[in-house]
Amino acid sequence: MPRKFFVGGNWKMNGDKKSIDGICDFLKKGPLDKNVEIVVGVPSVYLEYAKSKVPAGVLCAAQNCYKEPKGAFTGEISPEMLKDIGIEWVILGHSERRNVFGETDELIAEKCKHALDTGLKVILCCGEKLEEREAGKTEEVVVRQLTACAKKIKDWTHVVVAYEPVWAIGTGKTATPAQAQEVHAQIRNWMKEKINPGVADNTRILYGGSVTADNCRDLAKQPDVDGSLVGGASLKPDFVKIVNAAK
Ligand code: PGA
Repeated sequence: MPRKFFVGGNWKMNGDKKSIDGICDFLKKGPLDKNVEIVVGVPSVYLEYAKSKVPAGVLCAAQNCYKEPKGAFTGEISPEMLKDIGIEWVILGHSERRNVFGETDELIAEKCKHALDTGLKVILCCGEKLEEREAGKTEEVVVRQLTACAKKIKDWTHVVVAYEPVWAIGTGKTATPAQAQEVHAQIRNWMKEKINPGVADNTRILYGGSVTADNCRDLAKQPDVDGSLVGGASLKPDFVKIVNAAK
């Protein structure tokens, strides 16, 4: 089975009801390639609102969730709560969670496990910082981040991996298609050797980091790039072009 092209939008901490209406308008206008799985990451306070407004075929994801079902964890939301309001997806391990909020590989792995056990689907992010790339440690870092999760994930069916080099996020400095392909192939190879060939063949690996309407097509042509995770450009009508990049 070929891997279905997947495009995620990550709105981060942006927007209000009015701008969500605007995003939903351009999504409705599309046209969106029907062969693409489309999921937008919405601030949790707007999840229900966005869910009621996005056109059919676009799903909403939370941008984070905690590793426990309930309890004394002020400010957190649980996968159970997301399920309760009809949300199917969550983004976990985003570099901003790792680097701004200090989330460790271990915590992200626990969150992944709990989200999957609860029945959510997970967009699991990984990626190296600039100094790690310059030190030749890209593969080591990405494999370390993913290995922590692999120890806890029994079934990869509901996991999409997003490779997002930290130096490319929000900087306008996209990885070249060759740089993205190199790391995606390393991730797939790691899956083949350390998990199993079926997971390697079937798991979508997205590229994220300054994806735009201009560079999305060349990235999408790479054999191990199965879509993209889009921050800034997911707030603009250009997102439609990125969704349709594989057409
Ligand atoms: P960007 O963000 O497209 O604005 O670089 C990507 C992301 O953080 O997922």
